[in-house]
Amino acid sequence: MEKSARLTIPDIISRKGKEKLACLTAYTTPIAQLLDDKCDILLVGDSVGMVLHGLPTPVGVTLDMMIMHGRAVMRGSSRALVVVDLPFGSYERNPGHAFKSASRVLRETGCQAVKIEVCAGVTETVDYLTSRGIPVIAHIGLRPQAANLDGGFKAKGRTDSEWQQILNDAKAVDEAGAFAIVIEGVTCDLADEITACVNAPTIGIGASSKCDGQILVVDDMLGMFKRTPRFVRRYGEIRSLIENAADSFVRDVRSGAFPGPNEVYRLRK
Ligand code: KIV
Repeated sequence: MEKSARLTIPDIISRKGKEKLACLTAYTTPIAQLLDDKCDILLVGDSVGMVLHGLPTPVGVTLDMMIMHGRAVMRGSSRALVVVDLPFGSYERNPGHAFKSASRVLRETGCQAVKIEVCAGVTETVDYLTSRGIPVIAHIGLRPQAANLDGGFKAKGRTDSEWQQILNDAKAVDEAGAFAIVIEGVTCDLADEITACVNAPTIGIGASSKCDGQILVVDDMLGMFKRTPRFVRRYGEIRSLIENAADSFVRDVRSGAFPGPNEVYRLRK
């Protein structure tokens, strides 16, 4: 059988301790097309709810929304590994519920894996899914889907009990077969300890440069929003690019400079 051009789960696992994994979110076909040959993983994150749909947290995101954006990203990519988040309410009830949602995502989008936020009660779900052929990335530390419980998006691992809990979660999901672990918003010493003691590659966001890879929300790193979380580096200023272009467009429309003679159709002679 011909080897698929797309990166595979074993390709990602083999990067543990080697060349760092560069990962970004993508929610649409044109962005996936731009990122596909640069990134190792394109994550269709449930951050789509906040980034594209104006929601305050990912809690309002549905499985249908994730499938729609997952399909769009698959249409725009052929090389990167595509992972789709299972949204709030689609996997927590029990492992069978998670299997139903995850298998729908894989079947209807064609993506290779799902990501789930993990706390103590959800680790057995990782085992259930992976042993039934569904590759899983486990997301630990700051869990955006728990924003209501936490009173916002707050860094974790600053108390002994939080530290121990997150370390236990990391070891449990590693043992349960997660092929990678996203560590979000934890102290860098904790992220380093996790990276050193798990077999799966770790992918940090607001975690540590010693993780096996890094991920950012693409719109954050492009400078789309006024507010930038401290763990984000802005590699672009797309917000001012759009504002300046819109100002120029409005000015040209109002002055009659747009459309010009070459931007209209005429009768053929
Ligand atoms: O939803 C998302 O975009 C994520 C990443 C930021 C890790 O979970």
